[in-house]
Amino acid sequence: MSAESLKPEVTEFTNPNLEILYTEDQISKRIRELGEKITHEHRGRELVLVGVLKGSCVFMADLMRSIDLQLTIDFMSVSSYKDGTVSTGDVEILKDLSNPIRGKSVIVVEDIVDTGLTLSRLLEILSSRGAHSIKLATFLDKPEPRVKTELKIDYTGFVVPNRFLVGYGLDAAGRYRNLPFIAAVQDPSAT
Ligand code: IMP
Ligand code: MG
Repeated sequence: MSAESLKPEVTEFTNPNLEILYTEDQISKRIRELGEKITHEHRGRELVLVGVLKGSCVFMADLMRSIDLQLTIDFMSVSSYKDGTVSTGDVEILKDLSNPIRGKSVIVVEDIVDTGLTLSRLLEILSSRGAHSIKLATFLDKPEPRVKTELKIDYTGFVVPNRFLVGYGLDAAGRYRNLPFIAAVQDPSAT
């Protein structure tokens, strides 16, 4: 048997360029807590979870299964990073909600709040539609680069350092959304 075949294979999930910050177990425990809180605070309401595509898809899937209430889901897709790196605060709606939110208790579900520009604009857009209430749930809160300091986040998974994070729905140029954990990419130029 060659030495090569004895080496453990490096896969997408075991890539040494990824520093794991939150494991699958830590994530599922935290989401159960968030789900219980949301369940407690929305009993008797007409609840709609609005996921912001694509980053929120994994969080949305887990969060909704931890909320023991009647609810519906909807999705929006917005683009805010016109040049790929710097957030301009200009939000273009690529896909709007499928159903009206008038009279509903809405929770907007995001993967991460960074500058807060995307969510602030999204909330402005949604606030004119007659919802009973609009709350925010973000899996990660990265407060350091926040520009919109007035943005109120109602449900937060984890408060994270000012590093570029991937996994659990978050991507780097489209990659890594499928990682079951949250990691920091140590060397962005390496593969
Ligand atoms: P904001 O307008 O700066 O708050 O932008 C938030 C959006 O930027 C998120 O929904 C993500 O799509 C993206 N983003 C911000 N920080 C990260 C990160 O560390 N990793 C991956 N995507 C990020
Ligand atoms: Mg996003």
